[in-house]
Amino acid sequence: MKVAVMPGDGIGPEVTREAVRVLEALDLPGLTLLEGDVGGIAYQRHGHPLPAETLEIARAADAILFGAVGDPACDALERSLRPEQAILGLRSELGLFANLRPATMFPGLEALSALKSEIAARIDLLIVRELNGDVYFGEKAIETLPDGRRRGRDLMSYAEDEVRRIAHVAFRAAQGRRKRLCSVDKANVLETSQLWRDVVVEVAAEYPDVALEHMYVDNAAMQLVRDPGRFDVVVTGNLFGDILSDQASMCVGSIGLLASAALGERQTAHGTFGLYEPIHGSAPDIAGKGLANPMATILSAAMMLRHSFGREDEAARIETAVSRALADGVRGHDLGGAAGTATIGEAVLERL
Ligand code: NAD
Ligand code: IPM
Ligand code: MN
Repeated sequence: MKVAVMPGDGIGPEVTREAVRVLEALDLPGLTLLEGDVGGIAYQRHGHPLPAETLEIARAADAILFGAVGDPACDALERSLRPEQAILGLRSELGLFANLRPATMFPGLEALSALKSEIAARIDLLIVRELNGDVYFGEKAIETLPDGRRRGRDLMSYAEDEVRRIAHVAFRAAQGRRKRLCSVDKANVLETSQLWRDVVVEVAAEYPDVALEHMYVDNAAMQLVRDPGRFDVVVTGNLFGDILSDQASMCVGSIGLLASAALGERQTAHGTFGLYEPIHGSAPDIAGKGLANPMATILSAAMMLRHSFGREDEAARIETAVSRALADGVRGHDLGGAAGTATIGEAVLERL
């Protein structure tokens, strides 16, 4: 059970520390932690946000526990050297195309949702976000036109096999849940989305037990706050999934609560190789102040035990400990409380 720990920038190291404490408290036989530099800190130390050594550590591991990358001081660097390239590079280099972003209401937290409690209470959804394609990885440029005007462009594209493989992941996930899948696109405007929709319909023939619906992304953003309980599994492209998952976090109560898994095809001894990270970023506004909520990262570690190590019992123990801490009133600053990063970590450990 080799875990590459990559804390990164800003609150990344603060939240990762608490997740590592939780993992260590489980005393799992064979758990080995390796550490790799990513993001702005890696650029400072090695001149690149994703140094070759780090990629090697990632490849040698069975799973990666990732904090966050991003540093405003690096925003003026050329794009290939910016911290965000570390996470994009790991996802693409390691073929981690399937991003699972669950959003479930925690009992007792309903009143802290940005939505009305009775609407928030019904949230139990899973966003399956494609992670290796879309406008993220298409040709991009800022160029000067012959008449002197500058133009920015980013090519949006999906090949059918890329859509097919994420669709299979989503249909299988739906089979293990309430058997409802909503595919989100913008097929009324975008050819990329039209192909997406056509391929999802083709794949649906193999899953007659799953009820498939299609929804335009603007409507999906609206339905997510009108009645999030209507969603079971949502499958969508890289860009729409990025945006909708941040939105889903506030429906639950805070971005400090949402975990994620990025999975590919590579199998390990006890599961699937994956990268696990909170959906939030490096939060430079609160970095270094001990204010970050580590629960999203702790819950990501639980997803790691489940998907990469086949340790369902321990994964559920972590999730129950987080849920109990919330039910007992442990609240970070993001939830209007006063508990700091380490206090929240301890509260989870006590309940573990
Ligand atoms: P962000 O998610 O870092 O922060 C958004 C807001 O949420 C901030 O006010 C922040 O304080 C708050 N927040 C986030 N996580 C929190 C937590 N655990 N506890 C309490 N509050 C929390 O998004 P941003 O400000 O748009 O981006 C900051 C940097 O992070 C940028 O450089 C961005 O590119 C990067 N980023 C990285 C990742 C990643 O590493 N996967 C994800 C998103 C953003
Ligand atoms: C996320 C982040 C990343 C993304 C950025 C930092 C590249 O927002 O993981 O949600 O857009 O995928
Ligand atoms: Mn994001």
